[in-house]
Amino acid sequence: SVEVVIVPDAKAGGALIAGAMADLLRRTPDALLGVATGSTPLPVYEALAARVRSGSVDTSRARIAQLDEYVGLPADHPESYRSVLRREVLEPLGIGMDAFMGPDGAAEDIPAACEAYDRALAEAGGVDLQLLGIGTDGHIGFNEPCSSLVSRTRIKTLTEQTRVDNARFFGGDVGQVPHHVITQGIGTILEARHLVLLATGEGKADAVAATVEGPVAAVCPASALQLHPHATVVVDEAAASKL
Ligand code: GLP
Repeated sequence: SVEVVIVPDAKAGGALIAGAMADLLRRTPDALLGVATGSTPLPVYEALAARVRSGSVDTSRARIAQLDEYVGLPADHPESYRSVLRREVLEPLGIGMDAFMGPDGAAEDIPAACEAYDRALAEAGGVDLQLLGIGTDGHIGFNEPCSSLVSRTRIKTLTEQTRVDNARFFGGDVGQVPHHVITQGIGTILEARHLVLLATGEGKADAVAATVEGPVAAVCPASALQLHPHATVVVDEAAASKL
């Protein structure tokens, strides 16, 4: 079952998860950390970066794996998730791009790029800790509602709601948000050894309730966490308000 941890606010959630990542890196210096984009995980990266700066965690051998990516944005586009992760995760943590793995959203053959990334994750030994956010509709990565719970890394079409939610990263213009994405599948995500989902704010309360207390069902992709032997959901009071 899913372990739920309620924290007072986003900052406390970030500190808690950064602590878990630091412990993992102490045990396994070359751990493969699966990271997510969006606003929610930022306090995690900030807290972990502070530990790196203070010397209490060593990231020199850490490896980073990407969860999802837009299709069709050049890799150096500022809003490609590769660019976002370089800016928000790799640089602050002092991790080089040589220790980074992600799908190629600009590939000519997208299905082949998806398959290659899925295979690369397995060949790298699998993800040790996968950090997840959650969409207002219960999506994880970019697995929108009704994604197969055993899906592999593949191309998906975004729902209008998700494009509207993400328009803020594209100058508020939903027309600039790509329609297609590559995402690790739910089956792929479930292969990580530890899943940690962070949700903060009232807007996530319904999705969190469906994730933790609803049936395991494709209408709420995050409910698949209930199938995982080691899944932790960290929520602030507002996101926990419907539990
Ligand atoms: C995007 C990402 C997800 C993320 C979600 C929520 O759709 N693909 O990985 O969880 O946004 O974003 P936020 O944390 O900004 O609410």
